[in-house]
Amino acid sequence: MTAPVSARPRTRKAVIPAAGLGTRFLPATKAMPKEMLPVVDRPAIEYVVSEAVRAGLGDVLMVTGRNKRALEDHFDRHPVLEATLSRKGDQRRIDLIRESDLVGDIHYVRQGEALGLGHAVSCARRHVGDEPFAVLLGDDIIGADEHLLERMIDVQQRLGGSVVALMEVPEESVSSYGVAAVEPVEGEAAGVMRVTGLVEKPAREDAPSRLAVIGRYVLAPQVFEVLENTAPGRGGEIQLTDALQTLAQGEGEGHGVHAVVFDGRRYDTGDKLGYLQAVVEFGVAHPELGGQLRDWLKDFAADL
Ligand code: G1P
Repeated sequence: MTAPVSARPRTRKAVIPAAGLGTRFLPATKAMPKEMLPVVDRPAIEYVVSEAVRAGLGDVLMVTGRNKRALEDHFDRHPVLEATLSRKGDQRRIDLIRESDLVGDIHYVRQGEALGLGHAVSCARRHVGDEPFAVLLGDDIIGADEHLLERMIDVQQRLGGSVVALMEVPEESVSSYGVAAVEPVEGEAAGVMRVTGLVEKPAREDAPSRLAVIGRYVLAPQVFEVLENTAPGRGGEIQLTDALQTLAQGEGEGHGVHAVVFDGRRYDTGDKLGYLQAVVEFGVAHPELGGQLRDWLKDFAADL
């Protein structure tokens, strides 16, 4: 039986897995967490935390690992720096650095061993408890004026189960993603589909579609139980995609997976090209730098 809408708790918590090694971005990430790479003047991870907070998820749990101390420091106060700026009367910069520690209520848990994304999510079990929650992958930055997460939270509350975000990708890229088989849902807009199957990083010829899972999920708490029983999959890791495949095919409260198909702007900042594109977009949108950068880009592009 599926619980009536009014009985379903609304999503309040966000989980951000941030324990990855950043191998796609070496050598920059040899000594620095990839989440701390700056996109203009803020580390990439801050855009992701801000997106969660904008969607009403003020309770954020970061799943970190070794060498991620800089993340905790960034979202904490820095009394020495504040005092130095205060002596110089630089209130503007004090306000700027305080924005990062005031952004949300951030908690941390460590994933002792890198056993995969599914395992990272299961580290959030105690904090999340028995309610739906969002997962935001730190590599993916969504354009600041998109409302993807809000739409996903809304779909989860109305339809129950779990919700993934899908984006159409070129055929040659499917093997970098979880890929979904979908069907329409009666009474829903075209951008909301039912997921009938999911496969993690399939070979091009085995992919059920070109609809790739991107780094936003709203998950039913039942996923934790399923993850406990999910054997290591692709790459010998416990895959979230495999647990979602089980939920997509099962029945009962907490089962069923829907998708919101996204066609807005998304940048994979774990990838060097995606990162550069994000820097340009957020640079052009920056209140102080935007005008100058835009003019320079036009000149620069004219000579290419
Ligand atoms: C993870 C997921 C994959 C998803 C991707 C989105 O893979 O396992 O299903 O499509 O994120 O970015 P990763 O990029 O961590 O290898």
